[in-house]
Amino acid sequence: MIEADLILRGARLLTLGPLKDERPRVGAAAGDVGAVNDGFVAARDGMIVATGHGRAHERFTRVEGALDKDVGGRVVMPGFVDPHTHLCYAGERWEEFATRRSGADYLAVLAAGGGIHATVRATREASDDQVLALLRRRIGDAAELGTTTIEVKSGYGLEPEEELRQLRLLARAKAEAPIDVAVTYLAAHALPAPFTDDRKRFIREATKALERVVDEKLAEAVDAFVEKGVFDIEEVRPLFNAAKKAGLAVTMHADQLNDVGASAFAARIGARSADHVAHASADGIRALARAQVPAVLLPGSAFFVGYAPPEARRFITARVPVALASDHNPGTSPLEGMPTAIALGVTLCGLTPHEAIVAATINAAHALGRGGRIGALLHGRRADIVVLDTDDERELAYRMGAPLVAEVYAAGRRVA
Ligand code: NIG
Ligand code: FE
Repeated sequence: MIEADLILRGARLLTLGPLKDERPRVGAAAGDVGAVNDGFVAARDGMIVATGHGRAHERFTRVEGALDKDVGGRVVMPGFVDPHTHLCYAGERWEEFATRRSGADYLAVLAAGGGIHATVRATREASDDQVLALLRRRIGDAAELGTTTIEVKSGYGLEPEEELRQLRLLARAKAEAPIDVAVTYLAAHALPAPFTDDRKRFIREATKALERVVDEKLAEAVDAFVEKGVFDIEEVRPLFNAAKKAGLAVTMHADQLNDVGASAFAARIGARSADHVAHASADGIRALARAQVPAVLLPGSAFFVGYAPPEARRFITARVPVALASDHNPGTSPLEGMPTAIALGVTLCGLTPHEAIVAATINAAHALGRGGRIGALLHGRRADIVVLDTDDERELAYRMGAPLVAEVYAAGRRVA
């Protein structure tokens, strides 16, 4: 007998679970949301115990205090997975935002000691309590907009001791967060001033910090900004090799503003994902497809900075798994929440609405190494569920900015 403490029924249910064996969705599956009309999902103790359609749920036992609800034909789908954010910062970048006009300008501002460096200064000046309060608020805002798993990077400390401070604050934020937080050590985001004359020493010290990251269990993955004038492949290779050896996943800001061969490099070293990829070459895309490394598209940064957005069709037709993320950060993407990322993924990158939903749920879960645990409404997965205020999920892509997220459950508990 199935026992449930949460049942949502009478739904247009998007299971996102059409496959037998779980793997990133490509080909026809890249646009298959697994829709079931008059569907239901049942959960117990934070895990999904059944999904189906019609009245089959009537046989289930409702435990005392269970929430049993007819959602009246509205969409019930997996909580969004945001696989790339930089929430750990203080200060805003109004000046840069107001004056920047192109992608090239972004790198020029950085080279002149602004951009990322401006946020590094503001974050260092903020107290631990201030940064923690900002993190709490931003994670809460993401949950309000339907995100139930969020990746958050360090990266505004630059010097290893400052990065460790950010990671420790992230550990505290994660411990009390209403949703799941996947922490990444963004070890090489920009070169800090004290290392200007010795780039190799910086990478050595960032690599050395991995020991403490692992000892204190501070991160799941290591990231770097591989870009013209920032860090090149040969510089970050020892960092990534050490990360892999230490059992951490590897991900990177790859080919965001220029093709530097980072997408192919990500595929070669078995990265968990390759992110941005707006300027990935055809070879890079082929390599990602061969290795089935998810490409995380970040339309928010293309939109705000004004560079050509990644063309989703190049990845979809090559059978690269495509994921979407907000890239929330104070520089390139002050964008809030996954519904807007979905809308931009469709309007700017050319995904279909259903491909964008796959990209924001199950494929994003794969981009975080969680493809077997979240991202789909299937028996045995965490009960991370969103109820939309519509009976047509395509509205997410169409009514940009509309308040469509009506209810959010994380591990079976209502969080928004
Ligand atoms: O994903 N490009 C590198 N990192 C971030 C932006 C960081 C910043 O400008 O503060 C990105 O676009
Ligand atoms: Fe980023």
